[in-house]
Amino acid sequence: MKIMVINGPNLNMVGVREKGIYGTKSFEEICQYIKTEGEKRGHTITLLQSNYEGGIIDFLQRAYFEGYDGVVINPGAYTHYSYAIHDAIKGNTGIPTVEVHLSNVHAREDFRKVSVTAPACIGQMCGYGEKGYLLAIEALEDYYQKHPKKK
Ligand code: DQA
Repeated sequence: MKIMVINGPNLNMVGVREKGIYGTKSFEEICQYIKTEGEKRGHTITLLQSNYEGGIIDFLQRAYFEGYDGVVINPGAYTHYSYAIHDAIKGNTGIPTVEVHLSNVHAREDFRKVSVTAPACIGQMCGYGEKGYLLAIEALEDYYQKHPKKK
């Protein structure tokens, strides 16, 4: 599968920011882990990061125009209020998308318990650190087993 992995604002600072919550591994180490493990499973992994809402929307549109099979997205704080990202995921005309959070957003501040982007996704994975990205890739594999692509 051709999979796009999108990370949103401040995720490039993982390893530096709030280590007690996000851990000590650098963003580069996490990206390397996702790429290595994703490729071991036979996928092509494109890793992208933006601190800007519009940048994330451009990536999502690119996933459609470049024929990606699946998207894994951690929209960072945009999760909690970006209807524009919600619309861009929905507008991806059927590309299954899985939302990931490193931390367990449900065990944190109230504002983090709401995701306006998850309803546009096939599911959400949170609280498993970087492993969540692999679980999301597995969820995409599972999705295509249940919904094979029509040739
Ligand atoms: C996060 C959770 C968000 O609430 C927060 O704003 C982030 C990171 C996570 O991966 O746990 O930036 O998406």
